[in-house]
Amino acid sequence: MQEMNKQQIITQVEEFAKRCITQHDGGHDWWHLDRVRKTALYLQSSEGSGDPLIIEISALLHDIDDKKFREGESMKTEEKIGFFLKSLNIENNIINEVIYINKNISFSAGTKPVNFSKEFDIVQDADRLDAIGAIGIARAFNYGGFRNNVIYDPEVNSSSTIGHFYDKLLKLRELMNTTTGKQLAYERHDFLELFLNQFFKEWEFRKRT
Ligand code: ADP
Ligand code: NI
Repeated sequence: MQEMNKQQIITQVEEFAKRCITQHDGGHDWWHLDRVRKTALYLQSSEGSGDPLIIEISALLHDIDDKKFREGESMKTEEKIGFFLKSLNIENNIINEVIYINKNISFSAGTKPVNFSKEFDIVQDADRLDAIGAIGIARAFNYGGFRNNVIYDPEVNSSSTIGHFYDKLLKLRELMNTTTGKQLAYERHDFLELFLNQFFKEWEFRKRT
């Protein structure tokens, strides 16, 4: 096979990613991948570190086989990604890094993994930035609707979408890896607080002070 140039590789990865996410909700659709890719490349240029090709491929493939949407999948995620990237003649060290990022990026994966790289830090920050701010709010309610969760229940802490703000979204600002990511997270975090203040004001029918 003739060597592909960078743009040809990215086009192939985009097509593969689109084929893999057909069961996802609107908050984990192609546009989420595209936003995370763009944000990650911005973080890369602002931080001046991390390999742009690894970052772009990893961002596009970070939600492949997300366990929230993974039912009846037979092939292991790493085999699926590995097999595909090998077919594009991508070097093994790049393939391993992309698989590592896919495996470890999720918030629910818990504490920071060992052997993380600058590329990991950047793609994880970009994914987390998409979970806060105005887009984060839109995604949370879309996912809640997709799962038929309640918007809010004052008697139960978890399983509501407002509960998810406290379980996860409000914690993300403090978990950012990069300096640029942290700066961007501040504005988006403030917007979550603004939204929650207004939400509870309306819920309790408090008069504006
Ligand atoms: P992660 O793998 O860390 O969950 P993702 O990029 O897959 O990260 O996306 C998480 C997105 O899904 C966020 O925007 C988040 O708000 C939304 N989400 C996940 N669980 C819930 C939930 N229980 N209620 C509302 N939104 C949720
Ligand atoms: Ni994501």
